[in-house]
Amino acid sequence: MESLERKDLLDIESLSTEEIELICNSAKYFKDLFTRSVKTVPVLRGKTVCCLFYEPSTRTKISFELAAKRLSADLINVTVATSSVVKGESLIDTVHTLEAMKADYIVIRHAASLAPHFLSKNIKASVINAGDGFHAHPTQGLLDAYSILERKGSLQGLHIGIVGDIKHSRVARSDIWTFKKLGAKVTLCGPPTLLPDEFSIYGVDITYNLDDILPDLDAVNMLRIQKERQQGSHFPSLREYHRQFALTTERLKKCKKDIVVMHPGPMNRGIEIDDMVADSPNAIINEEVTNGVAVRMSIFYLLSGGKPLEEIDKD
Ligand code: CP
Repeated sequence: MESLERKDLLDIESLSTEEIELICNSAKYFKDLFTRSVKTVPVLRGKTVCCLFYEPSTRTKISFELAAKRLSADLINVTVATSSVVKGESLIDTVHTLEAMKADYIVIRHAASLAPHFLSKNIKASVINAGDGFHAHPTQGLLDAYSILERKGSLQGLHIGIVGDIKHSRVARSDIWTFKKLGAKVTLCGPPTLLPDEFSIYGVDITYNLDDILPDLDAVNMLRIQKERQQGSHFPSLREYHRQFALTTERLKKCKKDIVVMHPGPMNRGIEIDDMVADSPNAIINEEVTNGVAVRMSIFYLLSGGKPLEEIDKD
């Protein structure tokens, strides 16, 4: 398999293990470019990428922009707050406007689950999901898997924990799919109010006691408490949450020495993760950000059905 034989990248569940491995393998090629003085390659020369973010973002938005620029695409950023969206223009009309300007790739983040899937059925451009509601954040799942691969060589047989606000987390859903497809065992942990029993349908273990699983984990992803998505209180206080579910310096001492500590960002330091842990050698939080650019370059490249990697530099 040399390219993703699909128009869109919408979620992980529809990707095969082979496709996930292909994305990770090509990402390695693009990451190696970052050490060069000239980091651009002409993969998307003459193509237009449009980033349409209906929700706030730092990492994902900048990462997609940088990925598109490093592939020599023309980049359009639609700032929703200053666009005709505020005058009531619908999602589909906004995207048809971008299509009329010949956008080839639409990168979209939206509060509504399945908004990217709806678009993909109604436009010719490739749609890449940059996060939709609680549903999926496929590029985050892929960059998380790639980041573990870099440290561990393989996910096969690893035990990976995902801790925190699972219920509201599109990152958790995409991580579960990606990690399991690559052969890892996944355990979810959080307060029962943020970790519904329904998650067992994903074929994961569930625990409400972080100390029970930490010593067995090879990697742990500490999710952000998403205050903006919570209606009502899901735990007594942030202090109580920290006591039961934070990755603290004391807890890190009980983990395997080479445990990989991840966080998708933005972090609530002192709530789900302590400063000393976030800045420890076990933490790969900044590497995840760097790898995100390489993984997104890989996705653009593979969706473009481009030429073999070894020929890219000859243009
Ligand atoms: N990880 C992530 O999605 O971060 P942003 O919300 O800053 O894009």
